[in-house]
Amino acid sequence: MDSNKNNNDKKVVGGIPLFSEDRYWGKSPKEELEEAIKVIENEGWDEFKVRYRNKFDQTFEENRADWRFILPISKDFSVLDAGAGMGRISIPLARVARRIVSLDQSYLRMKFLKLRAEKEGLKNIEVYVGDIFDASFPEESFDLIVMNGLLEWVGDTTRFHNPREAQIESLRICNKLLKKGGYLYIGIENRFALSYLQGRDHSGLYFTSYMPRFVANIYMKFRKGRPYNTYTYTKSGYEKLIKEAGFNDIKFYLPYPGYNLPRMMIPYENLHAFVYAVRSLMPAFGVKRRVAQLLALWPFTFRFYRYFFFSFGIVVRK
Ligand SMILES: C[S@@+](CC[C@H](N)C(=O)[O-])C[C@H]1O[C@@H](n2cnc3c(N)ncnc32)[C@H](O)[C@@H]1O
Repeated sequence: MDSNKNNNDKKVVGGIPLFSEDRYWGKSPKEELEEAIKVIENEGWDEFKVRYRNKFDQTFEENRADWRFILPISKDFSVLDAGAGMGRISIPLARVARRIVSLDQSYLRMKFLKLRAEKEGLKNIEVYVGDIFDASFPEESFDLIVMNGLLEWVGDTTRFHNPREAQIESLRICNKLLKKGGYLYIGIENRFALSYLQGRDHSGLYFTSYMPRFVANIYMKFRKGRPYNTYTYTKSGYEKLIKEAGFNDIKFYLPYPGYNLPRMMIPYENLHAFVYAVRSLMPAFGVKRRVAQLLALWPFTFRFYRYFFFSFGIVVRK
């Protein structure tokens, strides 16, 4: 890898500035993504798409960013996509905003995004590698900061006393970087989501998000040899967390079916819209879905069901 320093003494590798050292992130082994990037460089995108369809969290569908319709994003917007991953949010936002700054701790992910932006002819995406705690951008420089699938991971660090403290600090950083009146969008799981009855938590284990933190921690150390640090919360838990970072204007949405591919952004208080989504859009197979549809027959139980819905879209205004 060619590396040099830019004017601000930042290390630059392959044309990408680094705030901190690369930290690989992904379900596939690092070598596999390296190989895939070589395929893009040597054989082109068509070959890549055939060989690696939807691998590495990447996809060419752009609806992961459809939560954007609840925000007044304009062509003047300067956006920070924090924990940008494979660029599934950065790419669609780059089509509607002036400037996208994509930051991720994983070098390969940013290399992939840089290539993808070039392929799409999008010149308004700048990529940076680094931990959000090391990134330095001018204060009050963004109209929108996106943390989609990031807040739950930022506690995976030894810099703070506990994961919650790290999460609050990451939100404080966003607070500093936002312009007055700017927006922070957070897409994240609900700690008590029913889906965790069937699926694994971020820890890679079942039921850890339901457990008291100290129990989850002991269990995690026993099973995986490391602490439990991917905290998720309930609605009121997120509210408290975000307020501690200095924000007061906080609105909750229920992204249907989930924050990772939202089709409808349902205002948390709008039970009619929630009932509509579950009765009309939810496929009627699977026990969990049938239970949800049964609950939708009685508004009272449905109010209750919101506490166990999969995820939240949180719009915070500075
Ligand atoms: C679940 S992925 C979400 C990717 C993207 N936002 C999306 O919605 O497709 C989480 C991403 O956050 C990055 N990440 C985790 N902790 C980070 C940190 N402390 N600083 C910067 N990036 C981080 C990971 O490398 C990973 O790419």
